[in-house]
Amino acid sequence: MDMAEPRLIYLPKILDDRGNLTFVEEKKHLPFIINRVYWIYDVPGGEFRGSHAFRKNEEMIAALSGSFDVVLHDGKREYRFSLNRSYDAVYVPGMVWRRMENFSTNSLAIVLSSTHFDPDDYIRDYDLFLKEAAR
Ligand code: TYD
Repeated sequence: MDMAEPRLIYLPKILDDRGNLTFVEEKKHLPFIINRVYWIYDVPGGEFRGSHAFRKNEEMIAALSGSFDVVLHDGKREYRFSLNRSYDAVYVPGMVWRRMENFSTNSLAIVLSSTHFDPDDYIRDYDLFLKEAAR
């Protein structure tokens, strides 16, 4: 398993007539320790989120409700993941440019992060990202 490659993570699903259940355990389903959780909701139609990279922070992104696309670029190639199931997630390593788009109405994105919030970890300039990714 290449830790540095963006990829889909298929989380366990416990199917039940009373309602389904999914869970995630750090180090087991994720290659990092969870230090922060945030969620994105009430995204207006046509809006996008992201358009930045993190130098160190690694993340897992899932669509708990609705659907959206996660578009990633590692400086060499683009990856596009369409999330629309509560048990599918995307692993985003550090130094990957990311953008989230095509949010459906009432979509809910959950993001598990390996670091606490640190504005200095962000790269918000794409040309600077390409320069740092090439190092
Ligand atoms: P940002 O990461 O730029 O949002 P997105 O990538 O989804 O477009 O964050 C938006 C604002 O929220 C920015 O001012 C930083 C703040 N923020 C925090 O204070 N803590 C956090 O954990 C996150 C993710 C963002």
